[in-house]
Amino acid sequence: MTASEKKASERAHNSEAGSDNPSIQVRIRSPANMDCSYELISEEARHKAIEEAFLTPESNHFISTPEVIEMESRLSLWLQAGYPVHLIGPTGCGKTSLAVHVAKVLGRPVVWINGDESITTSDLIGGYSQMQSESVRDNYVHNVFKTKDTMKIEWVDNPLSLACKFGYTLIYNEFSRTKPASNNVLLSVFEEGILELPTKFGEDRYIKVHPDFKAILTSNSIEYAGIHRPQDALLDRMVGIYADYYGYETEVRIVMEHTGISQDKAEKIVQIIRSIREKLPDAQKPGTRACIMIAKGLQTLKGRDDLAIDFKQLCIDVIASKTCSPKDMEEKKRLVMESAT
Ligand SMILES: Nc1ncnc2c1ncn2[C@@H]1O[C@H](COP(=O)(O)OP(=O)(O)O)[C@@H](O)[C@H]1O
Ligand SMILES: [Mg+2]
Repeated sequence: MTASEKKASERAHNSEAGSDNPSIQVRIRSPANMDCSYELISEEARHKAIEEAFLTPESNHFISTPEVIEMESRLSLWLQAGYPVHLIGPTGCGKTSLAVHVAKVLGRPVVWINGDESITTSDLIGGYSQMQSESVRDNYVHNVFKTKDTMKIEWVDNPLSLACKFGYTLIYNEFSRTKPASNNVLLSVFEEGILELPTKFGEDRYIKVHPDFKAILTSNSIEYAGIHRPQDALLDRMVGIYADYYGYETEVRIVMEHTGISQDKAEKIVQIIRSIREKLPDAQKPGTRACIMIAKGLQTLKGRDDLAIDFKQLCIDVIASKTCSPKDMEEKKRLVMESAT
């Protein structure tokens, strides 16, 4: 049993203790028993355990400055007004952190989708799991055998269905990387409050979206205009908030918060990165993450006199991650030397 399974099971156990009347009995692995035996807990307790163990967002080191609070307020306001919100901005400007923080404040469990080329509608909504064949051999009379084969098909929900059914917050990261056709299923979710499961029949085909359902989508502004621009009909149904890199003070505070580095060092790092950012083309601009990386490198370097690495080299290594040629590398070295003096 993994640590997370154990955690889920322990939580299930605790919530079970407080539950008066468990209605549906399901089986879950027992934490106390390593030989994978099972115990009975209610469906409700099982859900709660899974939500607490796997769907509780963690947003460590989040800091709030006036500009962060302003973004947070706009995002929260539009979610409260009932609209999905699309955060658009360059890589490393703080979109995902903001989404996770606001989701945490909402207090609902959070499910994730990370958009990419290969995402299909089933990845969003779910599908039928592999069929299992079960054979029962009945020998209730010593010389009479009866065997019964049953095929089991089980529907498994994916993040969007879970979020719509149970009122979770959906964070759909890099949503514009997904092919528009796969995201079509979102249209009726956002417009009519209905999720349609195309592979199901009858009334099972439709899920009424839970009133607590919220969706925060993020996209990279640099890639956004590319081949997978989402269809206008979908964009029309959501609010867009453009997120740019935070200002100098906020970036300094973020670096200090993440690394515990002194203010003067954080300031120096942020100044260098911001100066380089101005000079590099959009796709190569270093984000706030680069500042945090340099600060962490600097801290690791402390007391390591055996290493012949200086501060400028740390900066070069961090911004070199998007380098595509020796000429490009030379240019970056030059920018660091220029900015660091
Ligand atoms: N308000 C904030 N408080 C603390 N750290 C932040 C904040 N905003 C961004 N960061 C940090 O900056 C880095 C980039 O942020 P991230 O949300 O991953 O950007 P994006 O999703 O736009 O690529 C991460 O290391 C993140 O932890
Ligand atoms: Mg992100």
